[in-house]
Amino acid sequence: MSAHIELFRDKPHLISGSIGLSVLGMSEIREVFRKDYRAPAYLCPDLRLEFRLSEEETEVEAWIRFERNGERVAPLVLDGEELELRLLEIDGSPVAKDDYRIEGNQLKVDKVPRSFEMHTVVAIKPQENLTLSGLYKSSGNFCTQCEAEGFRRITYFLDRPDVVARYSVKLIAEKARYPVLLANGNRIDQGETGEDYHYAVWEDPFPKPSYLFAAVAGKLRCNRGHYTTRSGRDIDLEIWVNEEDLDKTDHALESLKESMRWDEEVFGLEYDLDIYMIVAVPDFNMGAMENKGLNIFNTKYVLAKPETATDADFEAVEGVIAHEYFHNWTGNRVTCRDWFQLTLKEGLTVFRDEQFTADMTSKSVKRIQDVRNLRFGQFAEDAGPMSHPIRPESYVAMDNFYSSTVYRKGSEVVRMYNTLLGTDGFRKGMDLYFDRHDGQAVTCDDFRAAMADANGADLNQFERWYDQNGTPEITITERYHAETGKLDLELEQKSGARPDHAPFHIPIRVALFSDHGSQLECSVTGEKRREHLLELRERKEVYSFTGLAKRPIVSALRGFSAPVKLKGSQSRRELAFLMGADTDDFNRWDSGQRLAKALILENVKRLTDGEDMQVDPLFLDAYETMLRDQSIDPKFKGLALQLPTVGELLNDMAVMDPFSVQVVRRSLLRDISAKFREQLKEMYSELNTEKPYRYEKSDVNRRYLKNTILAILSSAGEEAMLDLAWRQFESADNMTDQQAAFACLKHHSNRYRDESVSAFYRQWEGEALVIDKWFAEQATSEADDSFERVKSLSDHPDFSLSNPNRAFALLVSFCRSNLAAFHREDGEAYSFLADKLIEIDRLNPQSAAKVALAFNQWKRFDRARQDLMKEQLLRIEAQKNLSKDTREIVTRALA
Ligand code: TRP
Ligand code: ZN
Repeated sequence: MSAHIELFRDKPHLISGSIGLSVLGMSEIREVFRKDYRAPAYLCPDLRLEFRLSEEETEVEAWIRFERNGERVAPLVLDGEELELRLLEIDGSPVAKDDYRIEGNQLKVDKVPRSFEMHTVVAIKPQENLTLSGLYKSSGNFCTQCEAEGFRRITYFLDRPDVVARYSVKLIAEKARYPVLLANGNRIDQGETGEDYHYAVWEDPFPKPSYLFAAVAGKLRCNRGHYTTRSGRDIDLEIWVNEEDLDKTDHALESLKESMRWDEEVFGLEYDLDIYMIVAVPDFNMGAMENKGLNIFNTKYVLAKPETATDADFEAVEGVIAHEYFHNWTGNRVTCRDWFQLTLKEGLTVFRDEQFTADMTSKSVKRIQDVRNLRFGQFAEDAGPMSHPIRPESYVAMDNFYSSTVYRKGSEVVRMYNTLLGTDGFRKGMDLYFDRHDGQAVTCDDFRAAMADANGADLNQFERWYDQNGTPEITITERYHAETGKLDLELEQKSGARPDHAPFHIPIRVALFSDHGSQLECSVTGEKRREHLLELRERKEVYSFTGLAKRPIVSALRGFSAPVKLKGSQSRRELAFLMGADTDDFNRWDSGQRLAKALILENVKRLTDGEDMQVDPLFLDAYETMLRDQSIDPKFKGLALQLPTVGELLNDMAVMDPFSVQVVRRSLLRDISAKFREQLKEMYSELNTEKPYRYEKSDVNRRYLKNTILAILSSAGEEAMLDLAWRQFESADNMTDQQAAFACLKHHSNRYRDESVSAFYRQWEGEALVIDKWFAEQATSEADDSFERVKSLSDHPDFSLSNPNRAFALLVSFCRSNLAAFHREDGEAYSFLADKLIEIDRLNPQSAAKVALAFNQWKRFDRARQDLMKEQLLRIEAQKNLSKDTREIVTRALA
C-alpha cells in the first residue's frame, strides 16, 4: 500500500476507498487500483472460436492472433477461470510443459514471438455453472454473460476492455435439443455435421472487447420485425424467447423500433449491422446485456402483455430495450479503456435512456421518478461503507461496482454537461466524441475533453465529480433588502464525504415567485430572465437578484439540476406555497414531499416522547388543493398525493427507526383517507372506467392516479374499502389493476388477504414473472405476521435461491422495502437473511453480494440493532470459501 499512498500524497481523498489486502487477509483476493493501469503488452487483431456444446462438457477451441503492443518484450499473461486446458500450441507447435505455467487464474507463457497464433482447447461445464457468468444454461438453453470478467470462464484470453478484436464463431450442437444457434454479427454459414448435429458460423465485422461476446444455443422461437434506417438500410429485428412466451414479445419489438428512431432523431446515430437480436433468459444477474448485435435480456425486461405485465413493467421493458440499444454507440463503438471508466458507458447510456423515456412518456413525471430512485438508492449508498466516486479508485470484485453511483449518479453528471452547455452544445460534444473515438477504448477524461473542446468551455473543475465521492450539501441563505429591492442568495457547498474535498462546479437553476404565485422577471448578472442558471464553483458565493419590489419566494435547484442535497431555509408556508404554485413540476412535487417529511418526522419524535400526533392544517390544506386541482396531469397528481416511503423518510433520520416511521406514516395516511373520503371515492369511481386495457399514455396516467387513490382509501383496512379493492382484484382484465388491488389487500391479516393470496397463485401458477410478483407483494406486506410469512414462503416449492428474479422477489423486496419487519427487534430477520445469503453465495456470488448490501446501513441504527447486525456480518465474514464479491461488501461494512 505504501507506494500508492506516496503517489497520492497531494490527493489523499483518492485512496479513501481502499480496503487494503491486509484487511482482507486473503492472498488470492486482489484489490485492483485505477492508478495501476498499464496498456496491454499484447493486442489481438482477430480470433476464431469453435464451441462443441454437449450435456457432459463443452469444448472450446480457439485460434487467437496476438501481436506485441509497442516494443516492450513481456511474457504473455492470459486470464482463465475454471478451465481445463487440453491443448496449447503456438504457431503450430505444442508449448512444452516447462514453457508455460498456470498460476491461479492466469496462464503465463514466458517467451513468445513478436506476432503469433495461439491455438488452445479447453473444456468447461456450463450445465454446472450457477454463477450466471461465462457460458451457462438457463431453462435448458445455453447462453453467455461476459461483462465484466466472464469471458475468461470460456477460454484463455486477454479479458480486458482495451483489447478489441474481430471474432469469428462456430457453434456445434445437437440439432434436436439446440435448433437455434446464435452469436454476434452476421451468420455466414450453417449446415449439418453427421446425423444429429448441426453448426452455424457467425462473424462480427466490428472489433470488440471480450465482454461484448455472446453465444446462444437452444430451443427458441422468434418474433421478427424490420426497421429501415434513415439512410435506407433494412435491418432484421429478432426477439428470441421460449415458445410459451412468444405472445409477450410485441411490445419489446415496438420498443426496439422506437429506440432506433429516437437515436437517429436526437443524436444522429444509426444502427450498423444488418441484424439485431434479443434473447430473453429467465436466469440472469442483471437487467440485460448489450452484446454486439446479440443482446441477452432478463425475461423481466422483454416479456410484456396486458394480462401479465403492469404499466410500470411496460415502461421498464421499453427503457431497458432502449438502454441496451443505445449502448451500441455509447459502449460498443466507443468502449471503456478499463473498468474504472465504467460510468463512461453506463452513466451516459442511462442519461440517454432517461431522455428517451421522458420523450415517450412525460418529462416531469420521469424526472421525479428518476430523482426518487437516485435519492433512495444512490444517496444511501454514498452515505454508507460502499461509498465511491462515479469513477472508483479500486475494486476487489468489479461486479460490485455496477452500482447506483456509477449508473445513476453517473447519469446525473452527464445531465449536468447538458444543463451547462445546453442541448445543442451537448450534441456538439457528442458528435466530437464519436468523431475522435469511434472504434477506440477511452476514458472519462476523453469524454469531458470532447464536451469542453466542442464548446470552448472550461470543464477542468468538473473533473471533481469523477474523483470525489459523497453527496454535496448546499445551504441557501436568503437576505432581502427592501430599500434596494435586492435579494442576496448565499450558496454554500459542503462535501458529503470529507472536509478536504475541493469544491465542485455545480449548476443550480433558480426562479423567484411573488406571493401571488407569478414567476418574476429579475436580473442577477445583468440580463432580465424568468429563470437563472447559477454556476457555483467556490465554496461560498453570493448572487444578487435585483428589481424585486417585495420579498420573493425562491425555487432553487429546479428540475433537480445537480445531484446534491439542498438545505433550504424555506418555511413550511413557503413549501406549501411552492407545492401549489411552482411552475417547475419537479420542485412542485418535491416541496410537497418535504412538507410531508417534516410533518411525519416531527410526529415520530412526538410518538417516541409519548405525545399525541398532530397534523399541521397547512399540510392538509395544500393536500386538498392538490387533490381538487383539475388541471394537473393525473400521474403527477398520483405522485404528489403519495407520502414518502418509509425508506425515503429514514434517510433523513439521525438514528433510523423504521417501526415508528411506519406507524406514523400509516396513521397520517389513515387521517387523509378519513378526511377526504368522499372526494377520494368519487375520484376513484370516475377514474375506474371499464374500457379495455391499452398501454397508452392517457390510460396509464389515469390508472396510476386511480390505484394511488385505492391504496389511500384501503390503508385503514376498513371492510368497505377492502371490498372495493377486492372487486377490482377480481374483475381486472389487466395486471396493473390486479396487482395494485392485490397490493392493497396484503397489509391486513384477514380473509381478503388470505383469499387474494390463494386466488392470485391459482390464477398465475407457472407464469414465472407473475409468481415473482406474488412473492414480492407478500414480502412487502405491513401486516404484523409478514416476517413469519416470508420465512414460510422461503420453503415454498416455487421458491428458488438460484434464480435471481425469484430469490430477490422474496428476499431483497423484504429487506429493502419492508424495513419495519426486517429490522424487528429480536434480530430474527437478520439471521434469517444471513442464512439465505450464505447459501446463495455458494451458488451465485454476484447475487449474494447484492443481498449482503442489506446490512450496509447497520451503523445508522440504535445500539441493540447495530450489535445484532454486526453479529451477522461477522458470521458471514467467518465463512470458509466466501466469494470475493460478498467478502468485499462485508469487509467494507465492518471496516
Ligand atoms: N452492461 C449491462 C447494462 O446494460 C450490465 C450487466 C449486464 C452486467 N449483466 C451483467 C454487469 C452482469 C455485471 C454482471 O447495464
Ligand atoms: Zn448499461
